[in-house]
Amino acid sequence: MLLKCAAVLGSPSPFAQCVVFGWCLSSRELWAASQGPCVLCSDHYLLSGQLDMEGALTARDRVGIQDFVLLDETTEAAFLTNLKKRFSKDLIYTYVGTLIVSVNPYKELDIYNKKQMDTYMGVNFFELPPHIYALADNAYHTMLTEFNNHFILISGESGAGKTEASKKILQYYAVSCPSTTLLNTVRDKMLMSNPVLEAFGNAKTLKNDNSSRFGKYMDIQFNSEGDAVGGHILNYLLEKSRVVHQNHGERNFHIFYQLVEGGADDLLRQLGLERDVQHYNYLTQGECAIVSSINDRNDWKTVKNALQVINFDEINTNHLFGIVASVLHLGNIQFDSDSKASIYTHLMLFSSQLLGVDAQSLQEGLTFRKIEARKDQVLTPFTIDHAIYARDALAKAIYGQTFTWLVNRINESMENKDPSRKTVIGLLDIYGFEVFYVNSFEQFCINYCNEKLQQLFIQLTLKAEQDEYEAENIEWEPVQFFNNKIICDLVEEKHRGIISILDEECLRPGDATDLTFLERLEDKMGNHPHFVTHKLADKMTRKTLERGDFRLLHYAGEVTYCVLMCQSKNAIVKECFSTMDPDSRKRPETVATHFKSSLLKLTEILMAKEAWYIRCLKSNESKQPGQFDEALIRHQVKYLGLMEHLRVRRAGFAYRRKFDVFLKRYKPLCPATWPHWRGEPADGVEVLVQHLGYLPHEYKMGRTKIFIRHPRTLYATEDAYEKCKHELATRLQAKYKGYRAKGEFKKQKEAATKIETCWRGVQARKEKEKRAWAVKVIKKFIKGYMTRGQAKTTDNSEYLAFVRQSYLNRLKEKLPKTVLDKTTWLTPPVVLQETSEILRKLHYRLMVRKYVRGITPQKKAQLQLKATASSIFKGQKDSYPQSVAQPFVDTRISKCHIYSCSLTVLCSVFLQYSVPVIKYDRNGFKPRPRQLILTQTAAYVIEEAKIKQRVLYTSLKGISVSNLTDDIIVFHITCEDPKQKGDLVMQCNHLFEFLTKLSVIIEIQAGKESAVDFTTGQEPMVYKAKNGHLMVVS
Ligand SMILES: Nc1ncnc2c1ncn2[C@@H]1O[C@H](COP(=O)(O)OP(=O)(O)O)[C@@H](O)[C@H]1O
Ligand SMILES: [Mg+2]
Repeated sequence: MLLKCAAVLGSPSPFAQCVVFGWCLSSRELWAASQGPCVLCSDHYLLSGQLDMEGALTARDRVGIQDFVLLDETTEAAFLTNLKKRFSKDLIYTYVGTLIVSVNPYKELDIYNKKQMDTYMGVNFFELPPHIYALADNAYHTMLTEFNNHFILISGESGAGKTEASKKILQYYAVSCPSTTLLNTVRDKMLMSNPVLEAFGNAKTLKNDNSSRFGKYMDIQFNSEGDAVGGHILNYLLEKSRVVHQNHGERNFHIFYQLVEGGADDLLRQLGLERDVQHYNYLTQGECAIVSSINDRNDWKTVKNALQVINFDEINTNHLFGIVASVLHLGNIQFDSDSKASIYTHLMLFSSQLLGVDAQSLQEGLTFRKIEARKDQVLTPFTIDHAIYARDALAKAIYGQTFTWLVNRINESMENKDPSRKTVIGLLDIYGFEVFYVNSFEQFCINYCNEKLQQLFIQLTLKAEQDEYEAENIEWEPVQFFNNKIICDLVEEKHRGIISILDEECLRPGDATDLTFLERLEDKMGNHPHFVTHKLADKMTRKTLERGDFRLLHYAGEVTYCVLMCQSKNAIVKECFSTMDPDSRKRPETVATHFKSSLLKLTEILMAKEAWYIRCLKSNESKQPGQFDEALIRHQVKYLGLMEHLRVRRAGFAYRRKFDVFLKRYKPLCPATWPHWRGEPADGVEVLVQHLGYLPHEYKMGRTKIFIRHPRTLYATEDAYEKCKHELATRLQAKYKGYRAKGEFKKQKEAATKIETCWRGVQARKEKEKRAWAVKVIKKFIKGYMTRGQAKTTDNSEYLAFVRQSYLNRLKEKLPKTVLDKTTWLTPPVVLQETSEILRKLHYRLMVRKYVRGITPQKKAQLQLKATASSIFKGQKDSYPQSVAQPFVDTRISKCHIYSCSLTVLCSVFLQYSVPVIKYDRNGFKPRPRQLILTQTAAYVIEEAKIKQRVLYTSLKGISVSNLTDDIIVFHITCEDPKQKGDLVMQCNHLFEFLTKLSVIIEIQAGKESAVDFTTGQEPMVYKAKNGHLMVVS
């Protein structure tokens, strides 16, 4: 599982973090479980199957439970322990259902970056660890899908982190919503309205260095595509008294310090200001003008820049700062005993100049009371106190009006004029509940506002819960909780509430004072359990109350308000009147009534929307990181009604889910519901829970939801799911891989078929072309063939050309290889008969020529001898044809084999040829092997060392051979010479060679027959016949 993700949230145990993400898995996680990168940090990889649910539960406990609804006990102690556990690990957000409890960490946490925003975008609420982004994202997506309006109520006491939370949400929308250049401009304006409003509306208080001193409700408008297209701000009751008075340790509004510290020298000169905050009465009453946590110079730059973004031109900006400066100048105006502002008249001049009014009138206004009596105006001088009073009232009025003007200008710049329907998400960041040592009229308003919002919260949450049980037909036992309606009524009830009495007192003729007001209150509220005064209190309480005080027991604690302070505040009431049309006869509205009705309007606005809640808790009073002040937090948990809310959420049933959602998640746990349940989701859930073995008291089936009584039942189911999930993931993975592979295969197959088809098409087209061409050629050929004998036409000339070419090509392959081959010449077509004959002759001549050229002198001599042999024997002797192929040699007996004796004799004679022969005796024809040697002049018959006979060619009458196949040669010798032995009969195996050689020496011609008889027989033999002739059988 998400093994390394610990790195993301910096937990010491990777295990723990895995669980944070691991225990509420969804389809998205199934994907993740297939070893994708970690959902929070792309650097780390998921290792599936390393955690089981048991481990997960332990690890989950280590960082507490991320949804209080799943706490086993609903005690305050368990609640606080869980909160503390998580806070100690910097896990500042925890859910109570869809409500977020946020504890101010008083330190920068790295959980608001872009990566985190991306992580939470479009993810279901419970899929990731609690985060303000999860709430923002879910509100946004619900708005888009249901196309309705929402608001996020951020509540908590001063310094609990409300403003920060609202800024984080705004930033989230700025990043996560679709963006275009146009939308970005709107987005920038919305974002930049913040520093401007904070500069003019926030101040350092004892509770918070950047405390919002006005209430703010901001609507972000979205079109149907979810683009943030515009915004609108409603502001509530700016704490104007701060302009003229700050408690010890507090400051005036930031803008004054920013201007004096950061304004350019030129600007200060123009405005007549000095760069020294200590110089101004209005900035130094709290004696902490310079605070280390605030950098006024930097903030000044931010504000200047922001003003540009929200389209403030230079003139307006100058006017704006002119007013701020004029207030500072007013603050420094002193009055002398006759209440003339004579000492600092130059200040008066500066103020009037900056405010664009007549200095004389300003001075008169501040120092004289104007009484109108029957059309006459009487001016009576003020006392010093009154003059100071008038000065401060003016300063507050100017600042207050300017603030309203500023909000209007910002609204103008963020306004979207497109009339198409839009949905909104409202962000309510209103001042938190406040208790100071001295609590003024404004604190009264602020705390009243908080009472109203608490009332709204109670109504909405309880109502929603009750509606749900009712709608689902589930029995419902009301949870006991403190309903602060009683306090709201105490303040706002018509004719009986504090505001009504204040109104009456302010407007009643006669001498109304603060004390008469208090008396009236005591009269009316005498026995109200949440109202105490000095007079009404018991002994103990009385000690803690001044005579001019009244105390309200608010839902969040007791607050003592000082009516004497109201005296100084009466001017606010008056000032408010002064803004009314002087001619109007209508009874003017007091500030309190105005505030009451604006709160009523706000309630109406909010009631028409779907609510999301962020409950901010302050971790400690000293603004220190890492400090978890248990008592302080317990108090907040108590008055914010968190325990009640939790109990209501869990009343009877800790968990509920829509049938289809429940079935979708857990259906793998039951074979009957996996992978698909075909029937009604409710029936499927019933089958599923039966299979899981839920006992009847553990769950209830509503109309659309299943309600599970104990968290442990859900845990058990979740555990089972966790176990089966890995197996499931593998199966899904396998299926998916199979599906992908199949798809891929199909794609490839289709592609192959396509290519095949194309290729076949190409081939077929080629084939077709070839065939068409062939048909044409064949047609032509046939036509050419048919007209081959006719006059020349294109067809037949082509045909004939083809015939010629084809014949010549074939002829080329089949040419006779030898001169002797007279038969293989290819029969020519008619048109080529003549040519063929020429070619044939040429070819034979060529072959002959080649042959002749290739003959060596030896071969030539050989051939000549063969030719001679031919001329002698061809057709004369039967064995001649066989001898043709046998080549003649120069001699048959090498010199070394010739009997040496004869050699010496014969050496003088030129040796022509020698051959072994068998000589037959003349008498008896006895065969005797002899060597026959031919010389130029004679033939010698030699026997070993002896020349047996010499036959001179001159004495040779003739030579006989038979016409048969024998080898007998007869030398006919003239017998005139008695020394001569007569005819020589021999057998020689090389008859033709011998005789041819001899014929070269002497001329031999065919002559008559000799006394040798030749016959054919079965066996060749030679013997003397009866007639005395030599009988040769061959
Ligand atoms: N989420 C947070 N992370 C870090 N610091 C915070 C956070 N929320 C509040 N703070 C600190 O607490 C101070 C007071 O918060 P702020 O939102 O102005 O309180 P509130 O509006 O409830 O009076 C801030 O200036 C800031 O220093
Ligand atoms: Mg605030």
